[in-house]
Amino acid sequence: MEKNSKIVIVGAGVFGLSTAYQLATEGYTNIVVLDRHMPPVPDGSSSDISRVIRFDYGDYDYLSLAYDAYLKWRDTPKYKGIFYPAPYILVGKTSPYGQDWIAKTTSALNKKKLPWTKLKDAASAKEKFPVLSGELAKPGFFGYHNHQAGWADAAKAISQLRDDCLELGISFICGRQGTVNGFETDSNKTIKAVSTLHGSQVEGDHFILSTGAWCTGLVPMYNSALSTGQVIGYLRLTPEEMKKYQNLPIYANFSTGWFNFPPHEDTNMLKMAIHGWGYTRTPSQEDRTAIKSNPSAPPLIPPRERRNFVPADAETRLRDGLREILPEVADRPFERLAMCWYTDTPSGDFIMDYHPDYSNLFLGGGGSGQYVTFSTYRVYPLTASHSAFKFLPLLGSYMSLAIKKNLPPHLAQKWRFRKDYAAQNDTFLGDGSRGGPIRRELNTEERAKL
Ligand SMILES: Cc1cc2nc3c(=O)[nH]c(=O)nc-3n(C[C@H](O)[C@H](O)[C@H](O)COP(=O)(O)OP(=O)(O)OC[C@H]3O[C@@H](n4cnc5c(N)ncnc54)[C@H](O)[C@@H]3O)c2cc1C
Ligand SMILES: *[C@@H]1O[C@H](CO)[C@@H](O)[C@H](O)[C@H]1NC(C)=O
Ligand SMILES: *[C@@H]1O[C@H](CO)[C@@H](O)[C@H](O)[C@H]1NC(C)=O
Ligand SMILES: *[C@@H]1O[C@H](CO)[C@@H](O)[C@H](O)[C@H]1NC(C)=O
Repeated sequence: MEKNSKIVIVGAGVFGLSTAYQLATEGYTNIVVLDRHMPPVPDGSSSDISRVIRFDYGDYDYLSLAYDAYLKWRDTPKYKGIFYPAPYILVGKTSPYGQDWIAKTTSALNKKKLPWTKLKDAASAKEKFPVLSGELAKPGFFGYHNHQAGWADAAKAISQLRDDCLELGISFICGRQGTVNGFETDSNKTIKAVSTLHGSQVEGDHFILSTGAWCTGLVPMYNSALSTGQVIGYLRLTPEEMKKYQNLPIYANFSTGWFNFPPHEDTNMLKMAIHGWGYTRTPSQEDRTAIKSNPSAPPLIPPRERRNFVPADAETRLRDGLREILPEVADRPFERLAMCWYTDTPSGDFIMDYHPDYSNLFLGGGGSGQYVTFSTYRVYPLTASHSAFKFLPLLGSYMSLAIKKNLPPHLAQKWRFRKDYAAQNDTFLGDGSRGGPIRRELNTEERAKL
């Protein structure tokens, strides 16, 4: 890749922006980033008031990477006022798959010589975190806590990264002229330009596709990615409650996928979300881009802000999770509800590789959930989900290595583009053995509200 070659990056989420920034710092001088909207993109998965930063993973590679990223969040001056430390506690019902999962994560922590503390029952969790007033567990409790974790104000982090990109000379094209709906190729499968919703074309030498949950509509993914809608709830707190809950830990129940964030100062919101099987949304006619058979995608035209909506069953689950830890506020109406999109991959791994159908298209994404199978059980993607936001300080450097085919071999193997799922019809199936409901398609009324 020549330093002055034209690099077109499609998608200005954490994958696209961190890559643009990294390449610019390496001396690439002709980079343009396209998106449906100026970042932070209102319905982009990298935009919200908060994202959890943690490194508790059963997979040693992700744990190591996430730990390095955590240290950057914690120690780099530019993340001051963006990153906030908070303890992370992971709990769930005693069950073979849950215990198995926690055992995997804690042994990876041990291997890295990172401390964690077992919580032997609900009473000991409440003793350690007296702010947790709820019952915490019906019979059966399994959990541990890690004091090294926190959360980042995602919109602020993305705004800063966008400005860093602009200062390095990166250009942005946003709106209809930045909304890609296809590729112009020559007879050698080399992309010459992307076409846009506006009808214009943007030419380039190298193309990087980092369109998150929208990627399945742009290139064939060979059944290696599925976009699923996940749910978020925001509860308004009073100034007194902001104080009372200021030391609230990040509490995640892996049996339900429910987790919360500590109170967000700027908005006075207590945010919670569910990492679950989620919902699919068959694209409508006007959402269709290059791949007509795309099974699921968020709307193509960006709203000014995420629609204030989640399916009714999801709202109930958000509330039930809140009742588990803070019953005193669990009946308060949500200030806002919203859906946000994962790009699930069958193994839960990122994809950082060249697309097999083109000679100059690199793909970066898969920041999402994972469907882990333990014998006959399928586990909620909570602990396994390699949600990408937390990797922001490092993601671009790994993307750059991958683009130049310089990744360490074990990571190149892990993040390769996989065509071998194409023949499998059960890649994204849940078997319903979890506490929560299996993934389903949004119905007509729900679609209309999204
Ligand atoms: C509810 C929820 C909670 C999460 N919680 C966490 C967490 O606590 N911690 C964590 O680390 N991660 C979390 N994640 C995951 C994390 O947010 C994502 O993995 C990450 O943001 C994905 O980044 P991305 O760049 O792939 O996608 P995005 O940020 O969605 O970026 C893709 C961009 O591509 C643009 N685009 C799409 N189509 C086109 C097109 N046709 N033309 C031009 N541009 C296009 C979009 O507008 C968008 O801006 C969460 C995700 C969700 C949904
Ligand atoms: C987690 O969720 C499960 C399933 O709903 C529930 O039984 C349990 O009490 C919750 N809390 C803990 C700490 O396991
Ligand atoms: C395709 O590749 C061949 C061999 O590298 C080259 O000779 C030819 O000019 C290329 N065609 C186009 C349209 O670029
Ligand atoms: C998957 O394919 C196999 C073999 O064709 C078939 O028996 C099975 O019912 C299919 N499963 C689903 C969920 O479609």
